[in-house]
Amino acid sequence: MAALEHFTAVLGQWVIQNRGLDYAGTDPVMLDLLRWHGAEEIEHRSLVFDVYQNICGNYVIRAFSMLMTAPLFVSWWIAGARYLMANDPTIDAKWRWRDWLRAARQYKLPGPWRILVTVPPRYLRPSHHPSTEASTQMAMDYLEHSPAATAAREKGARAQPDPDDDHSPG
Ligand SMILES: [Fe+2]
Repeated sequence: MAALEHFTAVLGQWVIQNRGLDYAGTDPVMLDLLRWHGAEEIEHRSLVFDVYQNICGNYVIRAFSMLMTAPLFVSWWIAGARYLMANDPTIDAKWRWRDWLRAARQYKLPGPWRILVTVPPRYLRPSHHPSTEASTQMAMDYLEHSPAATAAREKGARAQPDPDDDHSPG
């Protein structure tokens, strides 16, 4: 789980910082939901790692688990994409590696190279701690200013009675 959380934190940062999905015309509500989830993944990125370090902390097990998790994560990613594409009545495209590579070049997805080659080694450093990956402040800023948070705040403000609008008798 700690190795998986390393990926979800990296993906959380990627989805908040990357503008490729905005330029691609992604549904704004879905994109906000995705970024909210990304911020939530960044926010708890150290939790499982800290628990592991406290109850065991063995480096060999930690490193081995990442070497198992990286290919598993990519295979789950592909299986998930295949499933969603097969069940989406609005498209008839099939999942293909070359489409993933093209989407990565267009900043619509993190590429397989990043997920399999550049991200895992950072976790393998003996001195690694998730706090050095992504930024809690960035996640908090997103949660503070996300379209859904802003809309909820405005809705809440409208629901509050106006203090200047005094209907009390007398
Ligand atoms: Fe998580």
